[in-house]
Amino acid sequence: MTTRFTFDGTALEAPRGLTIAGALLANGIVAWHRTPAGGRPRGVFCATGVCFDCLVDVDERQAVRACLIPLRDGAEVRTSASGRPSASGRPSASGRPRASGPGAE
Ligand code: FES
Repeated sequence: MTTRFTFDGTALEAPRGLTIAGALLANGIVAWHRTPAGGRPRGVFCATGVCFDCLVDVDERQAVRACLIPLRDGAEVRTSASGRPSASGRPSASGRPRASGPGAE
């Protein structure tokens, strides 16, 4: 049983039941996000939802953690140009983290 999806427009398959990160790794893709500062490549680091190195855009959602989201059949996964999402889970327009809390702009 396989799940079909696209990554940056390329049709791919992965065994059913994987996360998005697992499916990308199963296809030999190890980096799919770039740091906002410096543009360094990132992929899976913690695999537990803590580090935010694995951000991808999936369908209409931006900057989701690929290590936490199960891959669904027909998903359109894209390299994320966004930075770390805000506390609300939505990235800022600039792709940089949103300031929050006392003293935030
Ligand atoms: S690999 Fe760290 S949050 Fe996904």
